[in-house]
Amino acid sequence: MQILMGGNPGEVAREDLGELYPWPVGQRWVRGMMVTTLDGAAHGSDNASGSISSTADKVIFNEARRLADAILIGANTMRVERYRPLKAKPEQQAARAAAGLRPAPVVVMISGRLDLPWDEPIFRESEFVPIVVTSETAAPDAVERAREHCEVVVLPGHKVDPGAVLDVLTDRGWNRIVCEGGPNLLGEIAAQGLLDEADISIAPLIVAGGQVVTGSGLDNPDRYRLAHVIEHEGFLFNRYISISD
Ligand SMILES: NC(=O)c1ccc[n+]([C@@H]2O[C@H](COP(=O)([O-])OP(=O)(O)OC[C@H]3O[C@@H](n4cnc5c(N)ncnc54)[C@H](OP(=O)(O)O)[C@@H]3O)[C@@H](O)[C@H]2O)c1
Repeated sequence: MQILMGGNPGEVAREDLGELYPWPVGQRWVRGMMVTTLDGAAHGSDNASGSISSTADKVIFNEARRLADAILIGANTMRVERYRPLKAKPEQQAARAAAGLRPAPVVVMISGRLDLPWDEPIFRESEFVPIVVTSETAAPDAVERAREHCEVVVLPGHKVDPGAVLDVLTDRGWNRIVCEGGPNLLGEIAAQGLLDEADISIAPLIVAGGQVVTGSGLDNPDRYRLAHVIEHEGFLFNRYISISD
């Protein structure tokens, strides 16, 4: 891997990658992470993002989320990507403890329908029980069922307000939040001006399909400055920082 822009241009060692994804101290920081193809697809023909990713993409993804408090995803992403349990890794404990973090991040899912794959190991084997955030319009029996598998937070309103979700996390002292999509949830957060960093990988692929964002778009797009670009085998790993008010 080599840094093309930002940092010290040239080869970057795997063990130095984490330093390129710092967390600010004493404030909430929302880091969005996504991979997209040249034609803007969020997934390949198998509906999942792994088929448009690469080994280097996964390495950077893991480095950038390694010292997170919480991983935030939309329900479709859980239904498709089937997140595995997040467990404390012995080799990460010293760095997490030094940063004042719990031994592992918690996965937080947003869902209105609460039709999630409850049999997945993530709900039984995670270091910290996943949290599902829903709205007060969720069906009571669905809430009851969800409570058998995870912590459920019910927020007021017809839809879940992403800003209120972030407040729930910061109220618990979790300031380092990685939003791993999907594109619709990431868009909702950015549309409210709540995304601080967008780490967008560009895969040198065209899949002719797989664009999943709904909605008509913002009249005033959320704006970002480029902090660095890393290249590996034609993939570009771009770190952008929000410059919107
Ligand atoms: N390329 C990448 O890096 C990447 C990353 C992640 C995912 N993906 C791919 O993207 C696709 C999924 O993305 P997506 O954008 O369709 O879905 P998504 O953002 O993961 O999830 C959307 C779902 O989340 C829930 N949700 C989101 N905002 C909500 C709100 N304000 N209130 C209540 N519920 C809310 C709803 O769930 P309910 O339907 O349960 O109510 C909604 O249907 C999959 O194919 C996945 O593999 C790609």
